Amino acid sequence: MYKLGILVSGGGTNLQAIIDAIENGYLEDTQISVVISSNSKAYAIERCKKHNINCVVVSKKQFPEQADFENKIIETLKENNIDLVILAGFMTILSSNFINTFKGRILNIHPSLLPKFGGKGYYGIIVHQKVLEAQEKVTGATVHFVTDEIDTGPIILQKSIPVLPNDTPETLQKRVMEECEWKIYPEAIKKVLHEL
Ligand code: GRF
Repeated sequence: MYKLGILVSGGGTNLQAIIDAIENGYLEDTQISVVISSNSKAYAIERCKKHNINCVVVSKKQFPEQADFENKIIETLKENNIDLVILAGFMTILSSNFINTFKGRILNIHPSLLPKFGGKGYYGIIVHQKVLEAQEKVTGATVHFVTDEIDTGPIILQKSIPVLPNDTPETLQKRVMEECEWKIYPEAIKKVLHEL
């Protein structure tokens, strides 16, 4: 059985897409061993309760020092013997110590066609604002391995959609999530697990 450790901070719709992919059999021999939320109010926690998934809150409030915060997460992931670390809307930039601990086994999803519109400051709705400002004709999402530099690790999968003339950052964000992110995250996980 492959074991996933999923890190979240917010709504958890990508977490939900992974839960669904396990429940409907698309992700075979796979379980979510632990979800770690850095935010005690994240809706992602409710999703775990509904699906009986082990969920732990590790917050900056409990661990103000980044090293302590990360060590607690590392300890929790190790206790759960995870094979892959899945960042799904996790709002903290991780140190090289963390990344080296799970070298080559951390995946992230980003709501643009990397290398475009990635890096420091490019997160959430800002990414879609920048895409519209640049008058891009296509956008999409990328699943990639996490390395020391933000949003530049090897790409696992990408999916693109057209930018429509009347798009706002909000409509674009919604379509990128529904049509790209929720599809490619389970696909990328399947691909990586098969290569382990
Ligand atoms: C997604 O847009 C993802 O690409 C980005 O953060 C957002 C998380 O959304 N990294 P959710 O919590 O999965 O709904």
